[in-house]
Amino acid sequence: MEFLLVTQLLALISVTTALDNGLLRTPPMGWMAWERFRCDVDCKDDPKNCISENLFRDMADRLAEDGWRELGYEYVIIDDCWMSKQRDEHGRLQPDPLRFPGGIAKLARYVHDRGLKLGIYADMGTHTCMGYPGTTLDKIEIDAQTFASWGVDYLKFDGCHSNPVEQMIGYPRMSKALNATGRPIAYSCSWPVYVGGLPPNVNYSLMGEICHLWRNYYDIQDSWDSVINIVDWFSNNQDALQPAAGPGRWNDPDMLVIGNFGLSIDQARSQMALWAIMAAPLIMSNDLRTLSNDARAILQNKVAISINQDPRGMQGRRLLQEKSHIEVYWRPLSNSASALVFLSHRQDMPYLYHTSLAKLHYDPGSYEAYDVFTGRTMTGLTHTTDLKVSINPSGVVMWYIYPTKHKRFHNTWKEHTLSTYHVDEAEAVPPEVL
Ligand SMILES: *[C@@H]1O[C@H](CO)[C@@H](O)[C@H](O)[C@H]1NC(C)=O
Ligand SMILES: *[C@@H]1O[C@H](CO)[C@@H](O)[C@H](O)[C@H]1NC(C)=O
Repeated sequence: MEFLLVTQLLALISVTTALDNGLLRTPPMGWMAWERFRCDVDCKDDPKNCISENLFRDMADRLAEDGWRELGYEYVIIDDCWMSKQRDEHGRLQPDPLRFPGGIAKLARYVHDRGLKLGIYADMGTHTCMGYPGTTLDKIEIDAQTFASWGVDYLKFDGCHSNPVEQMIGYPRMSKALNATGRPIAYSCSWPVYVGGLPPNVNYSLMGEICHLWRNYYDIQDSWDSVINIVDWFSNNQDALQPAAGPGRWNDPDMLVIGNFGLSIDQARSQMALWAIMAAPLIMSNDLRTLSNDARAILQNKVAISINQDPRGMQGRRLLQEKSHIEVYWRPLSNSASALVFLSHRQDMPYLYHTSLAKLHYDPGSYEAYDVFTGRTMTGLTHTTDLKVSINPSGVVMWYIYPTKHKRFHNTWKEHTLSTYHVDEAEAVPPEVL
């Protein structure tokens, strides 16, 4: 099927806004099985790691007991390989009876009892990507009703084994079917990936009307190469992607792989920082039972999370690509604040980057900056202050920047000394951030 034909057909189909139901005003946060646990169905030899109700109960326990839920990580999301190879006698999807003996409704209750929400996976097509029963066009309503009857709160709808015409009919139809269940269900669409991720093959206005979030690009893997490839693709195409995002409608560069095997501490900070700039879902795929303290500190960084969850919901952009292989990213936030990320694409040693807020298009004025990963506050900045930023190879420096409050500026104006600023340092971070 040619993309052009699909685009023409798209214009002919009228779609009502089916999912403007108030969900996901900020990007979803939680945990998903795929990147870390894939399609491990070997519960005999690998009982702790196989896709089973035990795995999801374990992760729900960790989210509830280790401080994640309070930070906003609330969705526990099942990915592929949860199903039985056959639908039941009524044509409904059913879980594998050996790996999910209690059924999904019971698992949903377990998750809800811990103040969390349950996500599930289905595939628009004849089969899921791993060969389990797909949701063909005639099965969309019954599958939506089944998920709602189980108490599911989030659906990831993949697109293996379907063609673009089926996808064009099926993704909006699922949106309507979820709405018709009467249960508020967050809807994650993999549709864009399957048609190249960019206009004109993808209509991002339509995507925002029918889905809460959508996967634009390939699956993430547990490596820095994969993370930076995704970041480069999103940045190179930001003119098409960045305006599509907003409250209730998010681009999804895929899961956080922080805490697994492939990223250094610097690279893990880079993923967290860039996902915050991109207003990306913060959906971890790792083993919360064995997470290192370093990974936990990065994933639980309150300021990085608050930047990601900023209520204004505007996705950030890459501002600059320097010949030195330093890149600067920027995201406007509420209350006249903003976030800056300095990313090093270098492979040699920490690089000392010189800039100023004026060079980064900030208005003339006085500012303070909070360094998200060191916790240091820098006061007394103006747009012309010479900034020297030391950035580790494949690492970031991330700042939360806000204009100095007029009153504070006035108070410190007369005694323009470092010690004055030092005394004020603890008060300098606005309460809405920490
Ligand atoms: C994209 O979708 C929007 C919203 O449904 C629609 O108004 C617009 O005509 C579509 N654009 C194209 C080129 O099909
Ligand atoms: C269904 O769609 C309508 C119209 O957008 C919306 O007001 C309502 O909240 C939706 N309900 C659910 C359960 O998604």
